[in-house]
Amino acid sequence: MAPKLLLVLAICRLIIIVGLTLNPTDLNLNTDQHHLESASTDFGKLTRSEPIAVLNPTSTADIAKLVKLAYESPRGFAVSARGHGHSINGQSQTANGVVVQMSGPGTTTPVAPLVSEKLMYVDVWVVSFGLTCFEPPLVWARTQIVDRLFIPFGWWDAVERRDQWSGVRWIRVLYSNFSAFTHDQEYLISLHDQPQSQKFDYIEGFVIVDEGLINNWRSSFFSPNNPVKITSLGAGGNVLYCLEITKNYHQRANVEAIDQEVEALLSKLNYIPASMFTTDLPYVDFLDRVHTAELKLRSKGLWEVPHPWLNLFVPKSRIDDFDKGVFKGILGNKTSGPILIYPMNKNKWDEKSSVVTPNEDVFYLVALLRSALDNGEETLTLKHLSDENSKILNFCKESKIEVKQYLPHYTTQKEWMEHYGDKWPQIYRRKMEFDPRYILATGQRIFNPSFGSDPRSSW
Ligand SMILES: *[C@@H]1O[C@H](CO)[C@@H](O)[C@H](O)[C@H]1NC(C)=O
Ligand SMILES: *[C@@H]1O[C@H](CO)[C@@H](O)[C@H](O)[C@H]1NC(C)=O
Repeated sequence: MAPKLLLVLAICRLIIIVGLTLNPTDLNLNTDQHHLESASTDFGKLTRSEPIAVLNPTSTADIAKLVKLAYESPRGFAVSARGHGHSINGQSQTANGVVVQMSGPGTTTPVAPLVSEKLMYVDVWVVSFGLTCFEPPLVWARTQIVDRLFIPFGWWDAVERRDQWSGVRWIRVLYSNFSAFTHDQEYLISLHDQPQSQKFDYIEGFVIVDEGLINNWRSSFFSPNNPVKITSLGAGGNVLYCLEITKNYHQRANVEAIDQEVEALLSKLNYIPASMFTTDLPYVDFLDRVHTAELKLRSKGLWEVPHPWLNLFVPKSRIDDFDKGVFKGILGNKTSGPILIYPMNKNKWDEKSSVVTPNEDVFYLVALLRSALDNGEETLTLKHLSDENSKILNFCKESKIEVKQYLPHYTTQKEWMEHYGDKWPQIYRRKMEFDPRYILATGQRIFNPSFGSDPRSSW
């Protein structure tokens, strides 16, 4: 069909859905295949829904106009926000409406971050990374920094403190004893109120269950001071745990002082002797490390693949059971991607946010960041990995480990209600206040709109 005819058809379809009041060109709605296609998928590549149109707003007024239109149109249509499409399960998608492309006003010049800590927002034009992972925003064009989503990836740091530090000492140490590993991680996060010189600036960790990774993991970690070969660690057992920590410093800092601070902190830890790997790099390079990894994966064609990720918060009291059942059990020895693990203090999370955390002062993030491959190896297939995710969730349920999903994905409202627990009445109240027709962020599948009738009748 001629492109022109297609465009006319698309506009007709829009007019039917939206009602006759809308002139699509008024709003800069895109219906060309390129825009529709890119708004139809996300990083997860697990689901696909094509919207009717994509809005590339030039201002918040455009978005307000669209939302108003959606509300006023007799049949209603969905409006979903999409940043860079980093969601996993189609949270930014809709088949019944318009996707608002939030990743920027389309200018090529970078806009300075607009951050207000006092008013608790980051302007989404700038920090759109991960926005689509958020649950329905309560305030449309701006979002509260309620769950500091960016911390694991260093993005929040990037916004908040990019001028403050110049260098980073980046350290990795290994454990074969899980209790020793968690003990040390918990000790390190307990230091958060100590003076700068007496704590690390970043604490993460990961699990190495994969033979291949044990021999490979250092390839992404340039380490001039590498003292040993991993194979000579004699760790015993198949599973290793890596603690990853950093110390930030200023250019002018006395290197000896940094060495001493690091040494004093490390002396309290019980990692496998001689399993320390360390490197120094510019602070900005450290913040950008995930992007570096992305480029590497892209160059190997390993980026545009399905990502059945699973992010769990595990209560501290049950993390040993989780280790036995999952890391040393269900996962076997092929994991197809990094497994992050680190503890967090519950009191650092804002209870007013829509994130749900376990009911303990300390809980762990366990992030299985997996990529499915279609290379003939059964353990790497999407089916195998998705089944494994289900097994992990079932294991937790049967063992009564009260995990909470982070960036959760559920398909029924009953599951969402269980997920939110005590927070459900508040979530529901706010939805009724800000989005009573359930037309925003329908890809989250928390509330089901019923276009064409009274949305509340579906209750
Ligand atoms: C593992 O570490 C814990 C706590 O640090 C310790 O009590 C235990 O004896 C260690 N187990 C082994 C096998 O070394
Ligand atoms: C791990 O891999 C080896 C082959 O590399 C295999 O023989 C073994 O059964 C695997 N172990 C588990 C727990 O899957």
